[in-house]
Formats: sequence, C-alpha cells, structure tokens
Amino acid sequence: MKIANTTAEIRRIISEARADGKLIGFVPTMGAFHAGHLALMRRARHESDFVVASIFVNPTQFGPSEDLAKYPRDLESDVRKAEAEGVDAVFAPSVDEIYPEGFGACVEVERLSEVLEGASRPGHFRGVATVVAKLFNIVSPDRAYFGMKDYQQLKVIQKMVRDLGSNIDVVAVPTVRESDGLAMSSRNAYLNAQERAAAAILYRALKLAEDRVRSGERDAAAVETAARDLIESEPLARIDYVAVVDPETLESVERITGPVVVALAVRIGETRLIDNMLIEAPYAAGTA
Ligand code: PAJ
Repeated sequence: MKIANTTAEIRRIISEARADGKLIGFVPTMGAFHAGHLALMRRARHESDFVVASIFVNPTQFGPSEDLAKYPRDLESDVRKAEAEGVDAVFAPSVDEIYPEGFGACVEVERLSEVLEGASRPGHFRGVATVVAKLFNIVSPDRAYFGMKDYQQLKVIQKMVRDLGSNIDVVAVPTVRESDGLAMSSRNAYLNAQERAAAAILYRALKLAEDRVRSGERDAAAVETAARDLIESEPLARIDYVAVVDPETLESVERITGPVVVALAVRIGETRLIDNMLIEAPYAAGTA
C-alpha cells in the first residue's frame, strides 16, 4: 500500500493506476477507523480496481467550541487497518497542504446544509462540502463512498456532485452498528461505561419510531413524541433534535405518506451523538 502526504504524490500514484485503465474508488475519512469506515473500504475494494482512502481531520468543519483538538488520531493503526482491507493508497495530507496560506474558496450547498445538523452546527457543511470538493479534485475518483450514518452529509455531497456536474458516482453504505444498535462512531470513544450503556437509547428510539410508522401511525409529530419520550426516560440523555423528514429535501414532514428519515442528535453526558433511520414504504397493509 502506498502512502502520500502531498497532492503531487497522490496525483502521481493515481495517474499511474488510471493509465492502467483502473477504476478509482475513494473513501474520504477523518481517521480513527472503526468497523463503519472499514465497511466503506470493503465496498470500495469490491467495486473498484484501485482504492484510495484519505485521512484528514478537517478543521473547517468543527465549530469553535467543538472537539477538533481532542478528536481521536492514530495514523499508524489506521494505515494498518486500511492495508488489511486491501486499500491501495492512503492520502494523509497536513492542514497546510489542504489549506495553504491565503486559501479562500468555499462550497456552499444551500438549503440542505441549513437544517438539522446545519442548524445546530453553523458552517459545518460548508467545511465538509469544501474539503470533499477539494479531495474530489485531487483524487478525481470514479466512485466515492459515504456512510448513511451521516445521512445529511451524504445528501449534501450528492447534491454538490449533481449541482456542480462532477462525474462521480456517490455510493451510500448502510450504517454499521454495535450489538446493542449503537452506530459506530469515532466519538463513541469519549463515552465512559455508564454513558456507553445509556447511548443505546438512540437506536431504541429509532426502532420505536419505525415500529410506530410500520403499525400505521401517519402523524409525524406523534412519531417524534414517542421517540422523544423514550430518550427523555434516560437520565444521561439530552435531546438536541428528533425530526421526521423527507429523505431528499430533509424538510420536516407532517403527514407520513411515503418514505421518511427519522433523524436525531442527542447528548450523552458531554458527547453529542447523531443517528438516523430511513423508513421506506410499503408500510403495514391498508394503512398507507
Ligand atoms: P468520518 O467521520 O471519519 O467518516 C468517514 C466516513 O465513514 C463517512 O462517510 C461516514 O458516514 C462513514 N461512517 C462513519 N460511521 C459509520 C458507520 N457506523 N457505518 C457506516 N459508515 C460510517 O464523515 C467524515 O469523516 C468527514 O465529514 C469527511 C466526509 C471525511 C469530510 O471531512
């Protein structure tokens, strides 16, 4: 496996692969690999001839009071894990390599970036879209892999690619979960044992919402209330949002008449966790 720290190096590596007629699959990450990241790499390995993973903790997507400084970093172990998944090249640039002095461009995906996570974390998706656009320009992949765990991020990137006419196929990979349903996340490392046990409430709330929809509930507010009440029964949990939204526009839904996403953000102690569930039709017979 090759490791590149500069744009020039990774471009050279990729242009050689492309000269051999290889299809390039790309997995952008911030490192601290867990089974969710590895699932993206495995899928990319399966579907492409040459797999590139990037590891870059992107400062511009963190708010001033967020966890940039303490975000987990372990490049050596990440490189080993990527190699074990059959990744062909890792791109691990420095902050200066991506944002040299005077850097001033940005990509803003309007509307989709303003709701849910965007409302709670102003500027977050501008940071994400800008760095992913830059990484796409450097790597010029045929396909890029994103987790459904960050459903809004996936939608923002798909819209960016569509609006800007990039010739990249964005592939959505299902969320990988722990045995109690907690979505794998680098931020789970911040939880102590008691908080880790409490964090299972997020998935239980999503399952409850799904059950309600499947058994015929069509009032989105009632679904949200059921999920909220369950989360509020956990003393360590504080809700940021629980929302039933349209899977494409991410706008709030009132009546459930088609597929919806239940999205939530919950603080467990000091740690903010997000999760979501896509609930697709058909629902229970005779209730749609
Ligand atoms: P990061 O949080 O490292 O996630 C990298 C990719 O792994 C994202 O596409 C994310 O959705 C996916 N992922 C994380 N947890 C997952 C899980 N449990 N199951 C499936 N996929 C999962 O997301 C980012 O980095 C950054 O915002 C980035 C896109 C790299 C831009 O900086």
